[in-house]
Amino acid sequence: MFPEPLMNPTAKQTILIVDPEHDFVEWASEHLAAPSIEVVGVTNGEEALKLNEEKPADVVVVELRMGPMSGMQLLQRLRGKDPNAMVILTTGFPTTSAIIESMKYGAYEFLRKETITFEIRAIIESALKAKEALNVSDLTNTPSRRANSEEAAQEHFIGNAPAMQEVFKMIGRVSRADAPVMITGESGVGKEVVAKAIHKFSLRATREFVAINCAAIPQNLLESELFGHEKGAFTGAFSRREGRFEQCSKGTLFLDEIGEMPLEVQSKLLRVLQEGQYSRVGGNDTLTTGARILAATNKDLEAEVAAGRFREDLFYRLNVVRIHIPPLRERQEDVPLLARFFLQRLSSATAGNPFRFSQEALESLTDYHWPGNVRELENTIQRAVVLATTSVLLPSNLPLGQMSPSPKATVKGGGTASEAIDLLFESATKQGEELLPWLEREFTQRAMERTNSNQVQAAKLLGITRATLRKRVERFNIVEKEVG
Ligand SMILES: Nc1ncnc2c1ncn2[C@@H]1O[C@H](COP(=O)(O)OP(=O)(O)OP(=O)(O)O)[C@@H](O)[C@H]1O
Ligand SMILES: [Mg+2]
Repeated sequence: MFPEPLMNPTAKQTILIVDPEHDFVEWASEHLAAPSIEVVGVTNGEEALKLNEEKPADVVVVELRMGPMSGMQLLQRLRGKDPNAMVILTTGFPTTSAIIESMKYGAYEFLRKETITFEIRAIIESALKAKEALNVSDLTNTPSRRANSEEAAQEHFIGNAPAMQEVFKMIGRVSRADAPVMITGESGVGKEVVAKAIHKFSLRATREFVAINCAAIPQNLLESELFGHEKGAFTGAFSRREGRFEQCSKGTLFLDEIGEMPLEVQSKLLRVLQEGQYSRVGGNDTLTTGARILAATNKDLEAEVAAGRFREDLFYRLNVVRIHIPPLRERQEDVPLLARFFLQRLSSATAGNPFRFSQEALESLTDYHWPGNVRELENTIQRAVVLATTSVLLPSNLPLGQMSPSPKATVKGGGTASEAIDLLFESATKQGEELLPWLEREFTQRAMERTNSNQVQAAKLLGITRATLRKRVERFNIVEKEVG
């Protein structure tokens, strides 16, 4: 598995293990030793630095949680000395931020202690190969970057599934650069969360993060929203207006639902990506912007390109780095983690006993296929908490399948509530319905159904008094379920 022993014994490659656990150091030394490989172990960062000074190791494997110098600090010190240092970080149960930051500071890999036994040899082998390749090529000295954020006190970005850990690593890697990133995945998987994390961990963290939903802004206004306009550029342009590219010149601009961007705007965006230049609508001045562009879509952009709705050249510019977030049903192990996280957040926002799930409730959440992904899970738990009468949530409290947008209300681009309301509005007015009475009836009926005709809960859901609810139930002839 490892390179053949070399003729010259001094050309042995060295692996330095830094871990406060003697047992781990011992295990690694035995497990990794090979004729061509020397393994050295130390139990803290200071010793590691000293040893590495005398004889730099080819690969360093570092436990994140140690003191007084943490693994992350050691990584930074090692990479500060040698920007090509090959450092592999490891720990049991790493936080999301730790994984992202380790990549940001240039770790070669992040391995979890639970799986390290299966992975470490292959990873070390590829690290050693990469190191060899680096040694023969010209060493370019990229300055190391200073840390600008401490370990996040609270984690808001959950994911233990291997696919999500890869997403975190990608976030860390791309946070170091300014290249555009394309974020893909189904509706509700967390595309915006990823975009915000890239910004948060980047050097632009203190600058603005601006999100634009290309599907939500009327097409004729999108161009002016992004690039600004001159006074008199079109009817209603009473004064000059700055565009988002101008406002966010040193920050991050997140173009959500980029698949919905009209072709004319696409060509202007292409120019920004190629030259960093654009002009306001109705203006001739050339403006420059340094905004970093992140884009997201739940459409198949390759298909959009094939259909002529999306510029191929723009697609390739944006697609240099792609982060794909898998649907929740493909990372079922994250469901209980996310569910507990949302529940805890809701519990701390409400007075009274903290909520918890019964075992069956957690199981039913994990078994469900979550077509609306994390957003649907979050909404489901929110509703369960609102309707709960005890602090233990049972399967019957969880309205599975009711919180994903119905196919009819799913509008192109994902189906936010406001888009769904637009759609309702249009269809009702077209059919000559009286909108408010109709909505009132539909909502009352649904509230009664979903609370099993519990009038107290239904009234609470609708935000009206029980007396008002009773009147509506009578007026609309809503049939109450038999209780009991
Ligand atoms: N891994 C995660 N950890 C914690 N919260 C998450 C995670 N992923 C998503 N969420 C939450 O789920 C909701 C949906 O996420 P987000 O808005 O990022 O999805 P999206 O992919 O942009 O969806 P859409 O395509 O509908 O715009 C948000 O409230 C977000 O905070
Ligand atoms: Mg979104």
